[in-house]
Amino acid sequence: MAILMAAVFILPMVGVIISPSEDIDAASKGVIVVETSPDFAPYDYYYGTEFVGIDMDILRAIGMDTGYSIQFKQNRFDSIITSVTAGNCDMGASGFTITDERKKSVNFTQPYTTIKQVAVGLKDNPLTSESGLIGKKLVAQLGTSGEYYVEEDLKNLGWETYTGLNTYSDIVLGLLNKAYDYEIVDEPVGLAQVTANPELAVYPVLNAPIEEYGFLFNKKDTALLEEINNSLTRLKADGTIDAILKYYSDNGYRTDTPSYYDQEPTLFVISDNIAPYSYNRLGDTAGIDADIMRAIGDKIGYKVRFIDVRATEIIDKILWSPNYIGAGSLEIRKILNEKNEEDVVFSDAYATDKLVIVSPNGSTITTADNLSGMHVGVVTASKAKTYVEDKDGIADEYSTVSLALDAVNRGELDCAVVDYATAKSLSYGFASALVIHDTLTDAPVANYGFMFSAGATELIELVNGAIADLTTDGTIDEVKTYYADRSYNPDTPSFFDDTDDSFWGKIWDRIERCFLENDRWELYFDGLKNTLKITVVALLIGLAIGVLLASAVSLNAQTGKLRIIAALCKGYITIIRGTPVMIQLLIIYYVVFASSSLNAVLVASIAFGINSGAYIAEIVRSGMNSVNKGQTEAARCLGLNNGQAMKSVVVPQAIRNIMPALGNESIALLKETSIAGFIGVLDLTRAGDIIRGQTYDALVPLIAVALIYLVIVLILQFLVKRMERRLNNAY
Ligand code: ARG
Repeated sequence: MAILMAAVFILPMVGVIISPSEDIDAASKGVIVVETSPDFAPYDYYYGTEFVGIDMDILRAIGMDTGYSIQFKQNRFDSIITSVTAGNCDMGASGFTITDERKKSVNFTQPYTTIKQVAVGLKDNPLTSESGLIGKKLVAQLGTSGEYYVEEDLKNLGWETYTGLNTYSDIVLGLLNKAYDYEIVDEPVGLAQVTANPELAVYPVLNAPIEEYGFLFNKKDTALLEEINNSLTRLKADGTIDAILKYYSDNGYRTDTPSYYDQEPTLFVISDNIAPYSYNRLGDTAGIDADIMRAIGDKIGYKVRFIDVRATEIIDKILWSPNYIGAGSLEIRKILNEKNEEDVVFSDAYATDKLVIVSPNGSTITTADNLSGMHVGVVTASKAKTYVEDKDGIADEYSTVSLALDAVNRGELDCAVVDYATAKSLSYGFASALVIHDTLTDAPVANYGFMFSAGATELIELVNGAIADLTTDGTIDEVKTYYADRSYNPDTPSFFDDTDDSFWGKIWDRIERCFLENDRWELYFDGLKNTLKITVVALLIGLAIGVLLASAVSLNAQTGKLRIIAALCKGYITIIRGTPVMIQLLIIYYVVFASSSLNAVLVASIAFGINSGAYIAEIVRSGMNSVNKGQTEAARCLGLNNGQAMKSVVVPQAIRNIMPALGNESIALLKETSIAGFIGVLDLTRAGDIIRGQTYDALVPLIAVALIYLVIVLILQFLVKRMERRLNNAY
């Protein structure tokens, strides 16, 4: 009966529940299954349920170039190499540094990029040289080249402790709450962590060697490796790889950048961190220019990204790409450097400012008449220069207002003639050392515009149109008044910053980040689907195995038949119940099903089914035993044969007796599946883990995952109760 049941019901159900169709795209050439650990922005991470990042996009390019269909699959970083060598996937791509140690077990492609290790630590814990790590508590991800660098190269330096952790979120949280002093990590990844956690800073002070990244293959797959290598050569030559690398770097290595292949039209706003126009505040860019740019982006349907550079680099950056826009109180003027004169153009003016004198506290230089013969700091090529010279002052040029004021503060200049709002913002740093004199009534007014490369004609038109619209509808004035009303204090948040600093506001922010941003809810949803699939299939398999085992064991107990089979069954039960399910799972995946292309969800279902079978066998056996022997005897007396007695008298009662225990088993099973992540299944727990890694928020994803399990358990409990009641009523 049990065998029939297994054959007729369970196998097709397994087939339906785990249909591979969704995983394999039709491809002209075949499928390459790539494993990655999506915890490594900007190289590998999730956008919703899509794999994105530098590695992933290079592989997409390779797919298009070679005709292979590339299928991505997530796994824990430290499991990928084992997976590749065991043949559970074709290729590993996860920001892997090419190392001699790794070359012993896998083959690498040619390098596609290079990086260096850096230290990441709290901003108020600055690190100026590698020897600053002496006596410090270091941390890195387990099994990474960062870890090797600590354990091998830095060993003799004398750090206090080293801890290897599995996920970057744990590392970052550890840094924030000072459990560790510095993390050793690949530079771009450190930068991504810093963008997400403004309390941290990257310290590029290690004497670490340059590392090369490569994709890795099973030693046997040399033909495939060669094909991919050739493709990499082509993609390097035609600029694809550079374009992908540049795209992620332009976007500032943030974890919310969509794939290069899903780019949204974006304005890259280049500026030099100058208040009140464009400045960093708690990881966000605030300021008049920044906010006007946001409004413009909104108007013309572009995403806006801010890139910080030094003042002197703005022009070079802009010449690099027509989508780059210079901002930050750039005065509309001829650019002096002749080479650039024709190359750079400005938008229409969106703001003006007046010139003021800034002089040391107590100085007699307060009006235009005092400028004669004085050393006056001005910004290079600004209107101030000619103005000061008209007043017979000696103009000294500086590239920024801040540098000019520094010079005044140091006593190298008598005063400076600079733009008012910028000076006002800077004055918060000078306390009372410098005084702003608002008396230059005859000075020319500076007009500010956004700077473009001259080739960007279409974009300039769009932006000018938006500036006109936003002037008419009052938005630009609103933004400017907002900052003026706050006296240009550089601590002013963006006009559009609607973060609510209250307790509930902050909680809501976190919930938003962990669920809505980047469509993260999809990942929990996919995880939940896999968790349910595994649980249901494992339960069916477990029931089949359990009934079979129990029948064999009881038959042997009652009749003495099937001695050997019963002994085997008992052995099975002992072994399965006597070893951890985690180990069974790993054995089944890495040993039994190694080098088979069965998908990990199915392998997990089988493993948990085999495990559950042993427990269900015991439940079923005790259920059968619990039916009093007198029941069988009475049935026989009534003239039923053995089979009829079983079917109509014993089994119905047994089922009623085992229902509660089976209900418990299914609940236990559901929760046990939470270790499926160890063989690369994206289950609910792993989904929460990945999101924890991307948001650096432990609380929200963990609580959310716990709640989802709880809800399912409650539903299960309810169903079991109902079934029990039905069965009770039936007899
Ligand atoms: N480049 C380093 C290494 O190869 C770190 C890679 C970590 N990758 C990841 N997806 N967590 O060891």
